[in-house]
Amino acid sequence: MDERDERDERDGPRRDVWATGAAYERYMGRWSRLVAEEFVPRSADAADGLRWLDVGCGTGALAAAVAARRRPRLVVGVDRSPGFAATARASARPSAPQHFVVADAMCLPARDAAFDAVVSGLALNFLPDPAAAVAEMARVVRPGGLVAAYVWDYAEGMGLLRRFWDAARRVDPSAAALDEGRRFPLCRPEPLRAAWAGAGLADVRVAAIEVPTVFADFADLWAPFLAGQGPAPTYTAALSPAARTRLRDALGAAVPRGPDGSVALTARAWAVSGRRPPRTRPARRSDGRWPA
Ligand SMILES: C[S@@+](CC[C@H](N)C(=O)[O-])C[C@H]1O[C@@H](n2cnc3c(N)ncnc32)[C@H](O)[C@@H]1O
Repeated sequence: MDERDERDERDGPRRDVWATGAAYERYMGRWSRLVAEEFVPRSADAADGLRWLDVGCGTGALAAAVAARRRPRLVVGVDRSPGFAATARASARPSAPQHFVVADAMCLPARDAAFDAVVSGLALNFLPDPAAAVAEMARVVRPGGLVAAYVWDYAEGMGLLRRFWDAARRVDPSAAALDEGRRFPLCRPEPLRAAWAGAGLADVRVAAIEVPTVFADFADLWAPFLAGQGPAPTYTAALSPAARTRLRDALGAAVPRGPDGSVALTARAWAVSGRRPPRTRPARRSDGRWPA
């Protein structure tokens, strides 16, 4: 399957590419793994022996953190990209009860209440209908089970992407339409809280997770933008060589450098969690009888 086939036609002009796992790992996977390591102990269920689902699992960062930090009975990762699912499968520890399935987040291939915890890392904004996906997450978790996710704070706290899009807009005003801080409404606490409440989830909480993103040098930061995975690299790959050089120079001028040439930024994600309400007895009618 070539990269074009893995683009979602419903995404229209966005055309984000998610195909080559190794390139994604160099670009974003190395940072999403750090967030997943923070997220699992802080926001997710502590019990061992649970059945977990990771929605939009990509190359498997969150599924790996669950397998490493909990003793799950089962971890299933679902992603629409066959290439990413293959990378996740190849990097899973053989002893971990992990399975990776190619499927659509808005139509999960699972029966109702099949999982104890349903989680998702950095994926919600890339789905054509995030509300439908959250409803699916709520459907497949058991009553009382956890539904939790995190997304980058594209508008402000994700330093790498914020600097990238600010530099892109300086050299190409038309890049404003592609800026993830503008495209993605689900990158702030209130819309996340509303999405969880809208799916009928209870005990909704939102918290920030901040991780360091330290690059050995500017080349280490810039090279992954040339490999075409996700919105910013997809945009970069489509530029002419001259425009790409202008963007590289603008971004290079906008990032701080340490004495050794390293570039130290931080990345903030917003994590949201809630629970499917436990099964309750139906409300009593005003005549004092229980409904049939
Ligand atoms: C930014 S990546 C996040 C991957 C991974 N969870 C992580 O934290 O690194 C977004 C993921 O959403 C997946 N995706 C996009 N649309 C999807 C859909 N409709 N159903 C399932 N996955 C989808 C992409 O293939 C990609 O792997």
